Amino acid sequence: MGNINSSMHLGAFLYAVGHHAGGWRYPDNEICSLLDLEYYKKVAEIAEKGKFDLIFFADRLAIPDRFGNNFNASVRYFASFRLDPVVLITAISAVTNRIGLAATASTTYNEPFAVARAFATIDHLSKGRASWNVVTSTNDGEAMNFSREAHLDHSTRYERAQEFLEVVIRLWDSWEDDALVIDRETGVYANPDKVHYVKHKGQFFQVRGPLNVPRSPQGRPVLIQAGSSDRGRDFAARWAEVIFTAQPSLDAAREFYKDINGRMAKYNREPGSVKIMPGVMPIVGETEAEAKRKEALLSDLVHPLAGLSLLSDSMNYDLSVHDLDQPLPELATARGNQSRQKLVSKLAKEEGLTLAQLGKRFGASRSHRILTGTPAQIADSFEEWFEKEACDGFNIMPPYLPGGLNEFVELVVPELQKRGLFRHEYTGSTLRDHLGLQRPEPVIDPK
Ligand SMILES: Cc1cc2nc3c(=O)[nH]c(=O)nc-3n(C[C@H](O)[C@H](O)[C@H](O)COP(=O)(O)O)c2cc1C
Repeated sequence: MGNINSSMHLGAFLYAVGHHAGGWRYPDNEICSLLDLEYYKKVAEIAEKGKFDLIFFADRLAIPDRFGNNFNASVRYFASFRLDPVVLITAISAVTNRIGLAATASTTYNEPFAVARAFATIDHLSKGRASWNVVTSTNDGEAMNFSREAHLDHSTRYERAQEFLEVVIRLWDSWEDDALVIDRETGVYANPDKVHYVKHKGQFFQVRGPLNVPRSPQGRPVLIQAGSSDRGRDFAARWAEVIFTAQPSLDAAREFYKDINGRMAKYNREPGSVKIMPGVMPIVGETEAEAKRKEALLSDLVHPLAGLSLLSDSMNYDLSVHDLDQPLPELATARGNQSRQKLVSKLAKEEGLTLAQLGKRFGASRSHRILTGTPAQIADSFEEWFEKEACDGFNIMPPYLPGGLNEFVELVVPELQKRGLFRHEYTGSTLRDHLGLQRPEPVIDPK
């Protein structure tokens, strides 16, 4: 806790061809295919050149189709498809050396054994750079791809996630670090006394174990979480080592930071053993005027229905039933992303936005903070948030890719390094080294 002497952490949140729904149309950005490994290799290499802690791929288990109960708006107006992020980081592990590799996997639409095995495998193949963003998923569209009619309610999906994490941790710990022997002389490959059944029987899962992957270089891949509701914050304080969050202002971010670190004690966790990284979309210009011009052009390129399709998806609610020229009506707590709905309702009310206007705004950064300015202006704001304990770093959301990330690495990173706020070189090889996180000892269940 307290960032005066430490260095900030940076994540590259790699989303389609950029986070801004107008980004794929941005004229100065190179057009890349989302179906080509060369694109992902390129953006990963840019982030690694910028000495980022990690790259991160989010995930949704359905094409957005809550708006109007069809996918027309999402398929027509933006890149609505995604390659499997777990497969992507595996491929990228082969073409990078130092950068951390984070991918989303759902606890609602997966089984613990499969998730534990996938991330332990990537941690071995990447020599200790794997990280799992734990999500409970968001909407009915996803549920309908997994033999269900509707998404689990908010509380039940966090209960399931709680048990899911307990089982995954025990599976990752089911091989002790020195279980492998591989002794040709004696013919012993591994020591069975150092491998343990898990024998879990719970409300949602029954898992015998052990995992069929030995303990990985980091001990356990790094756990990320991004829920900001009260339940989400408790879950994060219990399990997360990195927290992603959407925080529109310094005060809101400081409150969140203090609240999470305050909850850690409840779980016997040291404050500071979690890195909080709010999302931010940097729109960089050599001059402030140039940056503002970019922001205005990007906004012109967003179709309101693109943003409303994304917002309906996030809220798990069909906004097309309302008049787009009217303000967002008072809505009961949606069955989707609770914290995001709160943020959006507050923004729409404060600025008196119509639904169409809200669609354009949400399409820009999905209510994450936008920071438009020169490299020095952007570094000033980063420095202020970091030193005022609003965060431990940032999750960078380039408006367009690869160009927006390249501009940040070429223009803003050197400014942060010059101020002593960010590393010049990687000093370790694993993601835990980059983040300054302990390697957890295995918890062996005597059963
Ligand atoms: C930076 C960031 C990345 C996220 N990535 C995903 C994702 O990949 N898939 C997903 O279903 N939800 C994702 N979420 C949503 C969260 O997992 C969570 O559902 C959301 O913040 C709502 O949690 P709450 O209902 O506890 O407030 C992300 C949220 C943030 C802030």
